[in-house]
Amino acid sequence: MTRVAILISGGGSNMLALLDSMEQAGHPASPCLVASNDPQATGLERAAARGVATAAVDHRPFGKDRPAFETELHKVILDHGADMICLAGFMRVLTAGFVTPWSGRMLNIHPSLLPKYRGLHTHARALEAGDTEHGCTVHEVTPELDDGPILGQARVPIKPGDTPETLAARVLAMEHRLYPAVLRRFAAGDRRPVTLG
Ligand code: GRF
Repeated sequence: MTRVAILISGGGSNMLALLDSMEQAGHPASPCLVASNDPQATGLERAAARGVATAAVDHRPFGKDRPAFETELHKVILDHGADMICLAGFMRVLTAGFVTPWSGRMLNIHPSLLPKYRGLHTHARALEAGDTEHGCTVHEVTPELDDGPILGQARVPIKPGDTPETLAARVLAMEHRLYPAVLRRFAAGDRRPVTLG
């Protein structure tokens, strides 16, 4: 059974989708921790309500000492016995010092069809570019931001009158389908990409 630590920064809707999927019979993974860089993240109480261990490692006391924050976060994750990490709405950039020891064992979901639109504000950028479709990507995390081998993509149409908010909502609904599908396959040792939409 693969033990998964999920890292969040906010509401954790993707985290909840992953928790729900891991409750399915025969799933090869189970959650061992939900951790956040923000002690106020509402996802922490949502995870606790499901009986999952939680932890907060507030990044603010560490100031600019990113390695010190990451060392503490890494320790908490190891203390809970994690075999792999899922970043799910985790909004801190992680340095190679954190990423490299988890190489091949850390996933992220990004709200664009990578390699398009790395970074932030992806929905507004797709609208500004006049794209007709958009979507989300699950990829292995490497030291390069929003780079790394793609494990799954889901496409959604961009509709006339879409705003960044309406588009984000359509993408988020697909994220909640894509991430669990990728995790179930990845935890079983299968790296074939998942394609939805
Ligand atoms: C989502 O758009 C996700 O793609 C990005 O963070 C946003 C919020 O995710 N990584 P969640 O609701 O906190 O899971």
